Amino acid sequence: MSATLYIVGVGPGDPELLTMKALTVLRQCPVIATPTASVQGHSTALSIVRQALSTVDLAEKEIIDLYFPMHKIHREQGPEPLVVQAWQEAARRIAGLLQEGRSVAFPTLGDPAIYSTGHYLAMTLAEIYPQARVHFVPGISAMSACSANTRAPLCLGDDMLAVIPATFSDQRLRQVLESFNTIVLMKVHRVMHSLVPLLRELNLLDKAALIERAGMADERVLTDLTPFAGEEGCVPQPHYFSTIIVRKR
Ligand SMILES: C[S@@+](CC[C@H](N)C(=O)[O-])C[C@H]1O[C@@H](n2cnc3c(N)ncnc32)[C@H](O)[C@@H]1O
Repeated sequence: MSATLYIVGVGPGDPELLTMKALTVLRQCPVIATPTASVQGHSTALSIVRQALSTVDLAEKEIIDLYFPMHKIHREQGPEPLVVQAWQEAARRIAGLLQEGRSVAFPTLGDPAIYSTGHYLAMTLAEIYPQARVHFVPGISAMSACSANTRAPLCLGDDMLAVIPATFSDQRLRQVLESFNTIVLMKVHRVMHSLVPLLRELNLLDKAALIERAGMADERVLTDLTPFAGEEGCVPQPHYFSTIIVRKR
């Protein structure tokens, strides 16, 4: 079989939440390319893989870092040149490995379908090396783990569910919060100071739960979000791996 790039969802943090398909692919690929948010940074996706694979499996692999700067991407405006440059650099390295006949696994947190760099990588690779074979391996998303850990469904019956990054403008956030039955707010960590007052204004504060590091050893479920309200820089910030679920029913 010709060399393939596998974009592999590795779940929210607990290595036991890796699928069997993900494990098989990770074991078979000679190269693991890991996304890092800073040059020589740490990859949470890789740390999940390290916990799931045996030392023997890992010893036989080449592990390479791919740098993906964490910048907000507005889909209508397109990404900043720095971000495009990083995607192209990453895609060129992957193309080189595939041309050598080596399959590459690219582990990505949760499910690649949800706010994952994996799709940007695949799109950029298709531009520079259209013959590249790419497969996606779905994973357990953070919101699925958050739902499980709060023992509450995301949607039932005719409930409408919205999944949004909380970094939206307040006006768009407000519209979504008013229109849907369940709202999953991702990327909340930097905007808690403004998000909590908005939830309070819409009478949704007692319907919201913040799940921090779901599926990791130091997981927390918080139902009192008031400590996060206040002047930016003067109130605590939750970890980047935090999701808020607002359930109206
Ligand atoms: C770039 S998105 C990645 C989402 C991921 N692809 C998924 O399927 O869940 C990053 C956001 O996912 C959420 N997230 C990721 N891992 C999480 C975890 N273990 N616990 C809670 N939220 C998490 C947070 O909202 C974080 O800001």
